[in-house]
Amino acid sequence: MRGLAGKIAIVTGAAGGIGSAAVARLLAEGCRVVAVDLDEDDIVKACGEVDGDRFVAVAADVSTPDGCAAYVKQAVHRFGAVHLFLNNAGIMGVRMPIVDMPVAEFDRIIAVNLRGVFLGLQAVIRQMIAQGEGGAVVNTSSAGALRPYVNSAGYGTSKNGGISLTKVAALENGSHGVRVNAVCPGSTATPLLTAAFGAEGAEKSGDHLPLARVASPDEIAALMVYLLSDDASYQTGGVYTVDGGLMLT
Ligand SMILES: NC(=O)c1ccc[n+]([C@@H]2O[C@H](COP(=O)([O-])OP(=O)(O)OC[C@H]3O[C@@H](n4cnc5c(N)ncnc54)[C@H](O)[C@@H]3O)[C@@H](O)[C@H]2O)c1
Repeated sequence: MRGLAGKIAIVTGAAGGIGSAAVARLLAEGCRVVAVDLDEDDIVKACGEVDGDRFVAVAADVSTPDGCAAYVKQAVHRFGAVHLFLNNAGIMGVRMPIVDMPVAEFDRIIAVNLRGVFLGLQAVIRQMIAQGEGGAVVNTSSAGALRPYVNSAGYGTSKNGGISLTKVAALENGSHGVRVNAVCPGSTATPLLTAAFGAEGAEKSGDHLPLARVASPDEIAALMVYLLSDDASYQTGGVYTVDGGLMLT
């Protein structure tokens, strides 16, 4: 894809299924990658042993301003700039009806999936504006934001908030040459899906779809990396599903 070789990318949630698939694609396109997750060993396990000239693993909690400042600082320290940002870390949290959900669990989901996306946008776009060369951002939302389901008050709300942040950030930063888009994956074969629905439930969660299966993480990463590339140079503020046809059902 155009405009990726030599760029410096930050990917959060890089120890997870979708994040590590995106890291692999960005490295294959010639990017240098700052891979962020809670635990450094987990990042290396998921992403593999990568040439240190093009890859750094950073342990940071995206729900804190210090965590977001730390990964931007590492990117600038190691590679000199930030051009691309996949704001992807997320949790499903405990699935339960609103009437049963502890407030602390709702707050925990919002802290990672919504506050974390806001803090990441703030830290990274400030850096992009200071560099004066524009940039591209993809926020990971969810098909569950567009098609709500039961027991997902925290998750669905946080992912809808991520769509709002995407649109506001796109409006505010287009004049700086910073594009911001959201990707809404459907059911994707990652630890998050298995934790939420169990191994069998996760596998079956694609049965009712037009494509009759769940996505591989790489099928989601493909769209994300396209949106980060210059092939998507006129796309900003967009909300793109990769859902096997879920929206038609
Ligand atoms: N798998 C799906 O079916 C699906 C569907 C729609 C959207 N998504 C979204 O895709 C994104 C990636 O999820 P995935 O499916 O790869 O799940 P995953 O659990 O494999 O990866 C998520 C990663 O985020 C990390 N993370 C969680 N909290 C963090 C924090 N506070 N700071 C830093 N890292 C943190 C986790 O450690 C994990 O490695 C998430 O935002 C998720 O909500 C996934």
